[in-house]
Amino acid sequence: MKNLNRRRFLQRSGLATTAAFFSGFTNPKKTLAANPKQYLGGFSVAPIPNIRMAFIGVGYRGHGHAEQWAQIAGTEVVAICDLYDDLVNKTKTVCQKHGKGNRHKNIKTYSGNETAWKKMLTEVQADAVVISTNWKNHAPMAIGTMEAGAHAFVEVPLALTIEEMWDLVRTAESTQKHCMMLENVNYGREELLFLNLCRQQKLGELLHGEAAYIHELRWQMEEVERGTGSWRTDHYAARNGNLYPTHGLGPIAQYMNIGRTDDLFHRIVSFSSPAKGRRLHAQKNYPEEHRWNQLEFKGGDLNSSLIKTKLGRTILVQWDETSPRPYTRHNLIQGSLGTLAGFPTRLAFEGGMSGLSDSHHQWIQGDALEKVYEQYEHPLYKRLGALAEKMGGHGGMDFMMRYRVVECLQKGEPLDQNIYEGCFWSAVAPLSEQSVAQDGQVQSFPDFTRGQWKNTAPLAIVS
Ligand SMILES: NC(=O)c1ccc[n+]([C@@H]2O[C@H](COP(=O)([O-])OP(=O)(O)OC[C@H]3O[C@@H](n4cnc5c(N)ncnc54)[C@H](O)[C@@H]3O)[C@@H](O)[C@H]2O)c1
Repeated sequence: MKNLNRRRFLQRSGLATTAAFFSGFTNPKKTLAANPKQYLGGFSVAPIPNIRMAFIGVGYRGHGHAEQWAQIAGTEVVAICDLYDDLVNKTKTVCQKHGKGNRHKNIKTYSGNETAWKKMLTEVQADAVVISTNWKNHAPMAIGTMEAGAHAFVEVPLALTIEEMWDLVRTAESTQKHCMMLENVNYGREELLFLNLCRQQKLGELLHGEAAYIHELRWQMEEVERGTGSWRTDHYAARNGNLYPTHGLGPIAQYMNIGRTDDLFHRIVSFSSPAKGRRLHAQKNYPEEHRWNQLEFKGGDLNSSLIKTKLGRTILVQWDETSPRPYTRHNLIQGSLGTLAGFPTRLAFEGGMSGLSDSHHQWIQGDALEKVYEQYEHPLYKRLGALAEKMGGHGGMDFMMRYRVVECLQKGEPLDQNIYEGCFWSAVAPLSEQSVAQDGQVQSFPDFTRGQWKNTAPLAIVS
């Protein structure tokens, strides 16, 4: 199967220009007929004991991915690609440092131009390709990866447009490959605790969630030539909406079983505040003729979007990487019997919780949380938490995610996030932009599962 896919990819890339190669995937109508046999809701593949991993994009995020994945038993780093030679070599060196015997000893490197990744995919037979580039490359690279016979693991957001998301779904289904968006926040200790409490029905019926990515990141504008700020700033200038929704939304969606038996995103409305902070920052910190002072910053500093689900639940999703205020992802989930909230962690239950709070008018928080964790800590965190904290990466959530990917591939089990979840969560960006552009007009979510969500099991409490 793998060889066939690879041959098809080689033939196509040899015969066609890049544009023509990808144009076959751009018509969303072609994806609308669901084929239950190809559906990937609870998808798993045959166990892969030794996972041959390749990395495209080894800047800030991709380097960290490669360095840590190289340390997890059962992986072998086989190729690294980036535009820049120095980044590729730095990542290769760090991976090889973690290799014993022949492990990570034969890493092929690719760099120097925008399409070197295609050469890599034709020359190296990887099992898994991790894509951590600028956003516009996510979808084409993931499609190329799957067509080349490998599973795609893609940084957030999964893709930029709804059309690209349909392209990914169609390619993943036709090639029968994983295409997982790497939403690390779903592996946070607090998020796992909340998931466990929701699954144990401690909140009763879930009614409402609040998600956010509020993180003051104006400093990224220091990166002008290359690095995150060099491309992200252009998005923030040109686009107006919620451009980075998945960190806050992914956990809320899994508490609510969105796309998994219970519920689905239905509609969204979105408004943005005035765009002030980036322009002020540019004027204050850069000369008049600087690139940042030539941009017109159209994206409002704070975006607020409201999702209504099929069941009539609501989810507030906010985004602000500009304003001077402390970090939060909100992480609030409210049900008929209680509310859990993050930043800082607070819990309230109908009638209180024995020994910890007298009533739901009082938060359980601070030192009292230890008792809650003792009783309701997610089993996965119990098993891996100490190691994850030692290994690090956003407090250990990165390690947990990477470890789970390896574990699932090695055991031949479904991944914790399927491709449709990556699409639903990422779709907030383009749909919010459309709503903002239409002065808050309601937008409808596509059903990327084409009705199959009803047959997709909720994410289990993995132990
Ligand atoms: N999950 C998280 O916590 C988290 C944190 C940071 C970034 N991210 C995501 O990771 C991704 C990368 O962000 P970053 O901060 O590392 O950005 P970055 O600019 O530091 O790294 C991106 C890298 O991709 C490379 N690249 C671009 N085009 C390429 C091409 N055609 N071929 C090969 N390489 C190419 C660039 O040279 C660069 O080194 C983004 O999608 C971002 O949203 C996620």
